[in-house]
Amino acid sequence: MTNKQNRATAISHPNLAFIKYWGNQDDRLRLPVNSSVSMNLHGLQTQTTVEWGENLEGDTLILNGNYETGRALERVSAHLDVIRERLNLTMRASVLSANNFPMGTGIASSASSFAALTVAAVAAGGGNLTERELTTLARRGSGSASRSVPSGFVRWYKGDSHETSYAESIAAPDYWDVVDVIAVVSGQHKAVGSTEGHQSANTSDLQAARVAGADERLRVCCDAILARDFASFAEVVEMDSNLMHAVMMTSRPPLFYWLPATLAIMEQVRRWRADGLQVCYTLDAGPNVHCICIRKDAEQVKSGLKVLSGVLNVLTAPPGGPANIIEHATE
Ligand code: PMV
Repeated sequence: MTNKQNRATAISHPNLAFIKYWGNQDDRLRLPVNSSVSMNLHGLQTQTTVEWGENLEGDTLILNGNYETGRALERVSAHLDVIRERLNLTMRASVLSANNFPMGTGIASSASSFAALTVAAVAAGGGNLTERELTTLARRGSGSASRSVPSGFVRWYKGDSHETSYAESIAAPDYWDVVDVIAVVSGQHKAVGSTEGHQSANTSDLQAARVAGADERLRVCCDAILARDFASFAEVVEMDSNLMHAVMMTSRPPLFYWLPATLAIMEQVRRWRADGLQVCYTLDAGPNVHCICIRKDAEQVKSGLKVLSGVLNVLTAPPGGPANIIEHATE
């Protein structure tokens, strides 16, 4: 590196997994026990600026306008260490990051945060890496961040090493007219985060059974996306979400993410489907219900969700694009 200060800004979207990632083969490298597939969520985004500086004494982080010093800074700094090692840098960085997700939506931001941080930090550091390698680096910050780097519908191969655990797009955002209609039933931060959750997945007697069937569910799900076959898609997506939550509930100690409204919405979604709407549900490590539907049914699903008891807010997200550099300055 020369004596210059380098800065870049990236944006990235969170993603919603249709076949879930839950549990690692290697916690440090965040190598998952099964492959997964997701879609990026357009309209929700993280914007991150990274500036590397020779004269900085330590990494700094401003997150949603707040100067962070604790756990959030440590996690960002540990991720910057991974990038420093890859790019052979010794400089520290200042990081400015903000999410546009409406406050209190309970939408996890770690995927979009670590995807944007990775892409911005690598560009600012002068690295010219392939998308595949960017996905492996993003994975080290948060597993699901690997899936927020490529565009649209994205498959993350579990692999068996840092290099082979990468993500790639299987279809562009406009390939299939599906929409994620998110029923927000709680805006609270989850009590047990996913990093801890992955570490306890193996304590459930059901995890081995979930993992044993994961390759087959992934195949069925990817085929359904590529064939735009909503009926097969709905069946496998709901099953995979139910399996992950069964593992969570039977871990030691057990993790219950559902609220009463969560279950009521899941039942309602199944009734709507029986009545002919193309809609299915999936849940992450929280009580909010992601209702995936074909775009023509989205308005009906949205207005149906709004009047259900316990629903605080409803957000809508069509498939989104890749993590992108929006500004790159070298002074
Ligand atoms: O990337 P993490 O550690 O935040 O884990 C994500 C876990 C789930 O959202 C529950 C499932 C998934 O595949 O995104």
